Amino acid sequence: MTTDVLGIGDLGAAGVAAVLDLAGQRVGPVLAGRGAALVFEHPSARTRNACEMAVVQLGGHPVTIRADEVGFGVRESVEDVARTLGCYHALVGARVARHATLERMAAALAAAGRDVPVVNLLSDLEHPTQALADLLTIREELGSLEGRTVAYVGDANNVCRSLVLACALSGARATVASPVGYGLSSADLDRVAELGGEVRVGVDPREVVEGADVVYTDVWVSMGEEGADAKRAALAGYTVDEALLEAAGPGAIFLHCLPAHRGEEVSAGALEGPASRVWRQAENRMHAARALFAYVLGARPDARPAPFRDPA
Ligand code: CP
Ligand code: NVA
Repeated sequence: MTTDVLGIGDLGAAGVAAVLDLAGQRVGPVLAGRGAALVFEHPSARTRNACEMAVVQLGGHPVTIRADEVGFGVRESVEDVARTLGCYHALVGARVARHATLERMAAALAAAGRDVPVVNLLSDLEHPTQALADLLTIREELGSLEGRTVAYVGDANNVCRSLVLACALSGARATVASPVGYGLSSADLDRVAELGGEVRVGVDPREVVEGADVVYTDVWVSMGEEGADAKRAALAGYTVDEALLEAAGPGAIFLHCLPAHRGEEVSAGALEGPASRVWRQAENRMHAARALFAYVLGARPDARPAPFRDPA
């Protein structure tokens, strides 16, 4: 059965654990002689580069496609583009404006009888490949995920949603501070509970970060969103700065998926300060993508692995 990853929940707890383990191991050339299509409806620096290099590391050939150059959903239907890509590629990744587009792609490939996994490279709903890199970074930096507290401050967007679900799948607690109207929905909270997770929500950033092991934020206005002025006004006061990191307590690390807007959701001092692990996190996008692609193509972690990184 094809393993599509449209949301982080599609992996389940065992899948997330396997991907994290695979990220630290040498994986064979599971894509040798095969391609991976990476479709982008929005711009990308990290996801495109991380995924292209992950495909290369697995022995495959990445083909990055900007939606406008193929007329995605305009020149021909989303379904026909997906089926076409399925004729040549072992997997399809896509960054889409509307989550339903990913569902249409996966459904079209399944209906065509193509065993070609679809991986969400960011939608308005979720950013699962980011969440995997986030978990990987937390585990590397803090040694474990189980029982850790991850505090997210700001707009409860796609990145926040995948993060809290990823925490639920890996035994970490999540806390989220957002202004009224920009928090997680009751459906999000129900989903976390369904996955056996714990998430506490509030409006006060200081209260929510207290005692956290990780403080996380993301942009206030996501790609393709409207109403930017109203959002920025509502989120004023939710900047993660050095004082807020101090309120989290000693030892807390700071994460941000990037791109960052210094002076909006994060101060320059917090982003560049000693708690920040954002560049490690950015690098981990590639290790997580490599592991995820290998996983959806059938690779599983080795119980006695050779390390991915050679000893210095
Ligand atoms: N974090 C992230 O997804 O970055 P890009 O938008 O640059 O891919
Ligand atoms: N929430 C942001 C994440 C960018 C990586 C967006 O969707 O634009």
